Parts: sequence; C-alpha cells; structure tokens
Amino acid sequence: MDTIIAAEPVAQINKQFFADVINGLNSIPKKLNSKYFYDKQGDKLFQEIMASPEYYLTNCEMEILTQQSADIAASLTQQNTPFDLIELGAGDATKSIHLLQQLIREGVSFNYLPLDISANVIRHLEDHLPNELPKLQIHGFTGDYFDMLDQAVQFSSNRKVVLFMGANIGNMLPIEAKAFCIKLKNSLLRGDMLIIGFDLKKNPKEILAAYNDSEGITKRFNLNLLRRINTELNADFILDDFDHYANYDPRSGACKSYLISLKDQTVKIGSNILHFKKNEYIDMEISQKYSKQEIGELMTDAGFEYVTNFYDTNHYFVDSVWSVK
Ligand code: AVI
Repeated sequence: MDTIIAAEPVAQINKQFFADVINGLNSIPKKLNSKYFYDKQGDKLFQEIMASPEYYLTNCEMEILTQQSADIAASLTQQNTPFDLIELGAGDATKSIHLLQQLIREGVSFNYLPLDISANVIRHLEDHLPNELPKLQIHGFTGDYFDMLDQAVQFSSNRKVVLFMGANIGNMLPIEAKAFCIKLKNSLLRGDMLIIGFDLKKNPKEILAAYNDSEGITKRFNLNLLRRINTELNADFILDDFDHYANYDPRSGACKSYLISLKDQTVKIGSNILHFKKNEYIDMEISQKYSKQEIGELMTDAGFEYVTNFYDTNHYFVDSVWSVK
C-alpha cells in the first residue's frame, strides 16, 4: 500500500503557533485560534466532550451515518461514474467508516483519501482501517486542508466526493465559512460532490449546555490551550486564574467560548509580557449554528448545487449533499 505522509514540519508549526498566539493576545479583544486546541491532551478532552451527555452533535451525526448510509451511498453513485472519497479532517473515521462499509458492501470501487493535520491520525487510519475493511484502498495525506486537498485532487483521476463532517465548518466565522466553501468549490470540477455536516439552530438551552457541560470538560478543553502555550512556548499562565464562559446568541447562531481573567495579571510568553485586566476575556472559539435557509444561501453563493439532505430523527443535525455546478 502506498503511504503518502508529508514529513511533519515541527519547527515551522511551533513558529506559526508562537506568531499566532502573540498576535492574537496582542489584539483587541484578545483571541486565540481554536485550531490549536488539538494537541494530544486536547484530542483526549475532545473525545471526552463527544462522550458527554450534553454534547448531542456526535450522536446525531452517528445516527445519520449508521441509519442512512445506504441512501447516502446512493446519492454518491447515482452519477454512475467512478469516484474517490476525500475526507477533510478525517479524525478516527468512526462516523465515515459506516459509509465506507456500505460502499464496499455494494462492490463500489473507490479510493479513500483521508486528510488530517495530524500525522498520527493518518498513520493510525492507514494501520487500522484495512483490518476492519480489508478491501479498502486508502491513501492518507497529512497537513493543511487546502495544500493536502490539492495533492489529493492531483492523486485522484476520478470524480471527487469530499466529506467534511462533524460540523467542523461551525468553527469558522460565517465570513470565513463562505471563503472556505468558495475555495473548496474552486479546487473541484463540475460533477464533483461535497457532503458537509452542519449543526442546526435549535433550543438555545440545549446548544448552550453542549458547550457548558456539567462536568467542566469543555472548560478543561479551553484551559488546555493555555497549558499547551505554557509547555510549547515557554509561558507561565496560571490556569486557576482563568475561568471558562460560554454564550449562545439564538439570532446569529453563534455559540462562543471565552476564557475570563479572574484578576489583574501579567503573563510571560518567552520574552513577551502580556497584561490581563480582571474580567478581560480571551475569545477562544466559535461553534456556529445554521438554519436550513442559511445553509442553502452559503452553499449556492459558493457555486454548489443542492442534491439532498440527511437529518437525524430530531432534526438537530444535517449532513448536506451538494454538487459542483
Ligand atoms: C470540532 N468542533 C466541531 C467542535 C464544536 O462543536 O464546535 C469543537 C468543540 N468545542 C467545544 N466542544 C466541542
């Protein structure tokens, strides 16, 4: 089996991480990028969040994949031309495996091309997925979404079906999501398809609870980024001097997480000295929720054509299928 793993540019990541942290914490208001949540400890905490009773998103999307994979597969094979499946941010593929299984069961021949920022994730998928799905043809790519998407697109000579699940689009501001969808569309050709997961607007209390869980896992998930900055960038954040605050605005659909400084304090990051006022916040993460209409506008504005939607029983979540016009 060919294994395509780019060497991990560790020094470069740290330099970029350092620059992003310093720039973010010198901005007004202070902010950190939630893409940095996912170190080893952050991955573990995210697994705990997904297993928590309040975080409904994972179960909803899992229900869609386990109950409707035959219909999802049918929406992909209706064009009757061979395709390759490119998964952006594949993670451990616990949800997409149901679609892979279905396609293999139906005798569909395709390459599975998972893309992930983490080389560990890709190595794990390449080592373990073929045990569960012996007929699977897998080629992983490690790195930034669009660099790797370009590589995957060049690697594949078939029609492309891109999977972007888990409501990862929600971690972009709406304006960034729009730019992302346009860029994605421009990387693809007419007839290529996209399956994209969105968390839908619903009772605000249920949304807020998912990001403000009773066990405080989401709080630890946010604070873990300060711990990561301490270890990797030689900083001296005292985690107990910050608290987590989550807030959901039902009108805009923005669910936001903040860390609040509990006192006037000074933090050193390398040779940089940063001041935090008591009650000053750090903007940590957005988890944007969408209405069906907003999804339609976002995708059609980016140049996609609606194919179909797959909902869970409660209509909390949608895996939405689009094709390139
Ligand atoms: C990965 N992403 C879709 C999660 C979300 O729901 O925004 C990350 C997360 N943050 C806090 N809880 C989960």
